[in-house]
Amino acid sequence: MAFGATHLSLTLCLVALIVLAKANFDEKIEPVNNILEQNSDMLSQEFCIIAAVRSVVGEAITRERRMGASLIRLFFHDCFVDGCDGGILLDDIPGRFQGEKTSPPNNNSVRGFQVIDQAKQRIKTMCPGAAVSCADILALAARDSVAMLGGMPYPVRLGRRDARTANFTGALTQLPAPFDDLNVQLGKFSAKGLSAREMVALVGAHTVGFARCVTLCDDRNINPAMKPTLRCGCPVSSNNTNLVPLDLMTPEFFDKFYYEDLIRNQGLLFSDQVLMGSSATADVVRTYNSNPGLFLREFNAAMTKMGDLPPSRGVQLEIRDVCSKVNGNSITDM
Ligand code: HEM
Repeated sequence: MAFGATHLSLTLCLVALIVLAKANFDEKIEPVNNILEQNSDMLSQEFCIIAAVRSVVGEAITRERRMGASLIRLFFHDCFVDGCDGGILLDDIPGRFQGEKTSPPNNNSVRGFQVIDQAKQRIKTMCPGAAVSCADILALAARDSVAMLGGMPYPVRLGRRDARTANFTGALTQLPAPFDDLNVQLGKFSAKGLSAREMVALVGAHTVGFARCVTLCDDRNINPAMKPTLRCGCPVSSNNTNLVPLDLMTPEFFDKFYYEDLIRNQGLLFSDQVLMGSSATADVVRTYNSNPGLFLREFNAAMTKMGDLPPSRGVQLEIRDVCSKVNGNSITDM
C-alpha cells in the first residue's frame, strides 16, 4: 500500500514536470518563431526592394546606356557631401531653400533623378509596406549600374536614412573639381577617409560616361594634350548639349581602358591626367591597367567604403516618402 502511494505520487510529479517543461518550451519557442517570421518578412522585403530597383535601372540603361554612368556619379555626389543621405535629391524651394541639386558642381550636370523617383514608385507598388530610404535606392542603383555596364556586382548594405536638408555650399567645397591639382584632390578624398589608392580606384568610374562641352570650354578643366582633338566649338551656346567621352576607347563599358588613356596622356579632364603626375598615384594607374580584375575588386571595395559615409552629426533624418521632398513641409536650412 505504502509502495503504491509512493509510486502514484512519483508518477504525478513526473507528469507535472513534463507539463511545466512543455509550457516553458512553448514559451521559449514562440518568440523564436516570431523572430524567424519577422526576419523572413524583412528578408523578402529586402529581396523585393533589390528586384524593384534593379528592374527600373535595367530599363533605364536599355533606353540610354549613359544613364548607368549618370547614376554612379549621382551616388558619388550624394555621398561626398555630408554623407550618403539623399541630400542631392532634394528640390530647391524658391525663396526658402537652396540645396545641393542646383549647386554649381551639380547644376545641369548630375542626372538620373527621375530614375530614382521611378524606383521609389516601383517599390511602393511591388513591395507594399517596405520602408527604404532614397539614399539606399541611390546606393542600389549605382551598384546595379556598375554591374550592368560590365563591372562586377557587389553587396550593398541597406539602412541609410534621408536628411531633412541639403548643403548648397558643401557641394561647392567638398566635391572635387576638374581643375583640382593632385594635392587638392587627395585632400578632398582624405577628408572622407579615403586613401590615394582608393581615390585612383574610384575615379576609375570615368571609364564610363561623358563630359559636357560647356565643362570642357574652360581651359582649366581639360588635359591640355586633349584640347586640339576636341570638337566642341567653344565657346558653346547655352543650349549646346554636345558631349565628349571621358574614356576615349570604351565609354559605354566599365573596364580598365580609362587607365590606359591616362598612360597614353589621353585623360580628358585636367584632374584625370594629373593622376600620372606623382608616382604614388601613377603606380596604381599602371597596376590597374595591367590587372583589370584587381581594379574591379578594389573599385567595389572603395564604393562600399564611400557608401558607408555617415550623414553629418545633428542632421535630422527620416525615410522620405518622395525623394525630392522632405516629409511634411518643414525643411530645415543648414
Ligand atoms: C577628382 C575627382 C573627380 C572629378 C574632378 C570629377 C569630375 C567630373 C566632371 C567634370 C565630369 C563631367 C561633368 C559635366 O561635364 O557635366 C564627371 C563625370 C563623371 N564622373 Fe567624375 N569626377 C571625379 C570623381 C568621380 C568619382 C569618384 C566617380 C564615381 C565613383 C565619378 C563618376 C563620374 C561619371 C560616371 C561621370 C559621367 C557622368 C555622365 O555621363 O552622366 N567621378 N566627373
